[in-house]
Amino acid sequence: MVTQSTTQVKSGLQYLAKATGKPLSPNQHLLPLTAKVNDQDHLEIGGCDITTLVARFGSPLYVLDEFTLRTTCQQYRDAFKTYYPGESQVIYASKAWSCLGVCAIIASEGLGFDVVSGGELYTTIQAGVKGDLIYLHGNNKSLSELELAIDYDCTIIVDNWLELEMLREMGKTRDKIISIMLRLTPGIECHTHEYIRTGHLDSKFGFDPNEIDRVFTFVSETPNLKCIGLHAHIGSQIFERQPHQDLGEVLVDWLVKSENYGLEIKQINIGGGLGICYTEQDDPPSIDEWVQATCNAVIKACEGHNIPFPKLLAEPGRSLVGSACVTAYTVGSSKIVPDIRTYISVDGGMSDNPRPITYQSVYRTLIANRMSAPLTQTVTVAGKHCESGDIVIKEALLPDTETGDILVVMATGAYNYSMASNYNRLPRPAAILVNEGEANLILQRETYQDLIRQDLLPYRLLRH
Ligand SMILES: Cc1ncc(COP(=O)(O)O)c(C=O)c1O
Repeated sequence: MVTQSTTQVKSGLQYLAKATGKPLSPNQHLLPLTAKVNDQDHLEIGGCDITTLVARFGSPLYVLDEFTLRTTCQQYRDAFKTYYPGESQVIYASKAWSCLGVCAIIASEGLGFDVVSGGELYTTIQAGVKGDLIYLHGNNKSLSELELAIDYDCTIIVDNWLELEMLREMGKTRDKIISIMLRLTPGIECHTHEYIRTGHLDSKFGFDPNEIDRVFTFVSETPNLKCIGLHAHIGSQIFERQPHQDLGEVLVDWLVKSENYGLEIKQINIGGGLGICYTEQDDPPSIDEWVQATCNAVIKACEGHNIPFPKLLAEPGRSLVGSACVTAYTVGSSKIVPDIRTYISVDGGMSDNPRPITYQSVYRTLIANRMSAPLTQTVTVAGKHCESGDIVIKEALLPDTETGDILVVMATGAYNYSMASNYNRLPRPAAILVNEGEANLILQRETYQDLIRQDLLPYRLLRH
């Protein structure tokens, strides 16, 4: 039975970021930095009342705070400038949330882009990003994805032998020098969910380090491939600093090794992975602390080898957008199973946030139209999909809740919209960008017409 407990969190106000004397690192907060409570006891983000936004744009609704997103970009950029004496470039792992509005904001902050498909590449190009700031990833890139990236002068992060061979042929036929980085699997374990761990040897991504000599030889003998860097990504939602420090060292070691093959590799990319707070128990380092720790390890490794500092790249996704967004739902039906649990159902679920059902991810929630109401019950917030596992939050501490209340789930900027589906033919929600009291649609809510846009009915199935 789920018990009643109100000892830890007294009301929704507990989730608001508090001034600590230190600059606020967005990834350490459950709500966007601009979140506050207005005179009506409603949650406001970016100067916009969430209940007013839902009345105007409907629900479910992703609400993205521009200030938090820009602050995060600036903190990453500035921390690398402060702690790393060489050149640096922060790249946004756009798989976390790829759409024109998000890409345009991040591009305007001077970040580059990691894309993993033709679709993400196309979105980034349409957002106005130039090829020299785009890096194409993927363990099974298609010919057409490679062609699009090469035509746009992007850097290709090569994952495997097939790709190396395809690129060699493409370089020859086009008489073009293709800029590549090599993705290697560093064999570094980190404590995160099995599905988002990628740096261990048994991973589908990247070259096995045992093959490094053959890979370096191949590249050094292929004039149409210019290897500018080495890359590794060890996983996601990581709270420890040590794995990225180890990774920095390993990448520098490999860079030194590459010199024996006459390669002039001048960049290393340590991937993404810094975690964020989904609950008050989560304790990730701040962006500043994480960047400092990582830079120190790279600096030490370079000094140990007495080599110049390579350009240092990092490609965060979750910690860039995750904390800048919330999802607002409207509460509908409820069901009390005596002595077991109370279900409260909302108008979305696994189609707008597949993380709970995929990774058993835990979220926090509040009622946006009664922020200071005391928390009186522990309930299960259920989605509306025809699937028993469609549970948004298994144990949510809430005030007394009524049909029509606006329930907000926090920290939904990363891997929510980008993993959203139309399961049960639910139209995907709208997304609103909020800033200083202004609200702009950045994603329209899908309509029923959108849902059948790709459907075709063969003539013989038409009813006459
Ligand atoms: C290659 C690569 N880079 C960067 C990222 C971004 O990771 P995160 O969102 O944890 O920062 C991922 C995420 O899976 C990835 O696969």
